[in-house]
Amino acid sequence: MRHFLQETDFSRAEAGEIFALARHFKRQRGAHEKPLAGQTWAMIFAKSSTRTRVSFEVGIHELGGNPLFLNTNDIQIGRGETIADTAKVLSRFVHGLVVRTYAQKDLTDLAEHGGLPVVNALTDFLHPCQVYADAFTAAERWAGPSGDLMDALAGRKVAFLGDTGFNMANSWILGAGLFGMKVSLGGPASAAPGREISELAAKAGAKFEFTSDPFEAVAGADLVYTDVWTSMGQESEAAERRRRLLPFQVTGKLFATAKPDAFFMHCLPAHAGEEVTQEVLDNPRCVIFDEAENRLHVQKAILALLARHRA
Ligand code: CP
Ligand code: NVA
Repeated sequence: MRHFLQETDFSRAEAGEIFALARHFKRQRGAHEKPLAGQTWAMIFAKSSTRTRVSFEVGIHELGGNPLFLNTNDIQIGRGETIADTAKVLSRFVHGLVVRTYAQKDLTDLAEHGGLPVVNALTDFLHPCQVYADAFTAAERWAGPSGDLMDALAGRKVAFLGDTGFNMANSWILGAGLFGMKVSLGGPASAAPGREISELAAKAGAKFEFTSDPFEAVAGADLVYTDVWTSMGQESEAAERRRRLLPFQVTGKLFATAKPDAFFMHCLPAHAGEEVTQEVLDNPRCVIFDEAENRLHVQKAILALLARHRA
């Protein structure tokens, strides 16, 4: 049974296969094969979502399957039923799970007990579907219509600014390693990548740079990336985070020091005037809505690959 809990659950060759399949699904939208025909995939969400929820619901449907959205407040998990029991029960009904929650361990538990494929739709630790879609978005541009998508990423530099100690930064550390990219994180020392991600990165051979100088992080970057300063679950720290992360705001001035053709990316939702200025969001090299669209195509490819391994 294969799962997608972290970036490195797929090999570099498989990630290349996912990108090629995503390109195919994007081009053939509505007219391609339906590898989830006859299947129901449950989507267990313990946090809010716009992009992830809609792209998975639409994607499962377009692959011929039936998406079943379950808010944890509405199912017995919200009243204390264990993850292990939930997974065992769900495996009697559905063919796969897409899960958004807090602890990464909840996903590994589900994967261990469920007997069905589990996809990480965001935890506090990682957001792998997002980083695959982001890399695909950049690769599409760099590779052109027929170039190899994975080759197009090799050696490119991504600069990640702001909250360098949470899920999106962690995902870029693992993702950049897998895609053959360089990643430079610019954030305050208090948000430096933690021990867990550093150990995982070392095991995966994923190197990264961390600096508290935002201009050093952005120098020579092909891609400038940021995420919200206050992630879901951190709302009580919002004021303190705004103060601490302000030097790492992506301004027009900072973005202008990346390569002249660099793209700006953000997983969204964005907060103009916090992690990024409106000027950067209005720049023609800001590709945030293409990233959002590509969640659909890339996740369909991920599901198709998992379904193939399940068969
Ligand atoms: N980028 C992202 O995952 O967005 P949602 O929280 O809206 O799903
Ligand atoms: N870091 C953000 C990402 C949202 C897609 C959060 O966890 O809220």
